[in-house]
Amino acid sequence: MEKVVSLIDKETIDLRIKEIAKKISEDYKGKEVVMICVLKGAAPFFTDLCQEIVGVNVKQEYLKASSYDKEESNKNPTVEYLYKIDIKDKDVIVVEDIIDTGYSLDYLVNTELPMKGPKSIEVAVMLDKTEGREVGTVTPKYTGFAVPDLFVVGKGLDYDEEYRFLPFVGVLESKLNRSIDQDIQNIKAQLGTPVTPKEDNKFLGKNVNI
Ligand code: IMP
Ligand code: MG
Repeated sequence: MEKVVSLIDKETIDLRIKEIAKKISEDYKGKEVVMICVLKGAAPFFTDLCQEIVGVNVKQEYLKASSYDKEESNKNPTVEYLYKIDIKDKDVIVVEDIIDTGYSLDYLVNTELPMKGPKSIEVAVMLDKTEGREVGTVTPKYTGFAVPDLFVVGKGLDYDEEYRFLPFVGVLESKLNRSIDQDIQNIKAQLGTPVTPKEDNKFLGKNVNI
C-alpha cells in the first residue's frame, strides 16, 4: 500500500449519497425497486445508498462484472451472477462505482439485463469520469460526482485489489503529477443544499411503513 491523496472526503461522499437517496425516494415513492449492486466496486456506495432511501420497497441484488485489468478498461466485460436474480417486470436501478469508457454499463444495461425482462432500468453511479467516455449509450440518472480523468481508489474502487476499504476517494501519490486542489473544490461545488434528515421519516429502528 502506498500513500493515497484525498480527492473526495468521507463527509462530502456521505452528503451526496443522502442527496441521491432523496431523489430516488421521490422518484420511486411507494413502489418496489430492485437495486443491483455491481460487485465488487459498488458495494460500499450501494449499501450506504440503500440505507438512506425512504418510503420505497428496496430489494437488493448482486452481480459481478469484471472489466478492468489494473488500470486498462476491457471492452468485453464478463458478468457472473452469484445468485439467480428475478427482475422480470420490475423497476431496476443498476448501481456502479464509476463510469469511465462506458463499456461496462453499456453491456449491462443494453444487452445483459434486458434479456431478463425488467420493466425499467436506470443507473446510479458514484463517480462519472466524463472525459473517459468512448461509448455514450448510457446516461446515469443518478450521479454522485463528475471527476477528472485521474485513476482513483477508495470507497470500493481498487488498484489491483488494494484500497477498496478506504472510506474516501483518492489518488495514489506516485501517480500524481499535478495539484488536485482545484479538482477538490470543483467536486465540493457539485453538492446541493444539505439534506436534513427528518427524524420521523427515517427507519432508525422504528416501524417501517412502505
Ligand atoms: P468503464 O467500462 O470504462 O466505464 O469502466 C467501469 C469500471 O472500470 C468500473 O466499474 C471500475 O471497476 C473500473 N474503473 C474505471 N475507472 C477507474 C478508476 O479510476 N479506479 C478504479 N477503477 C476504475
Ligand atoms: Mg466496477
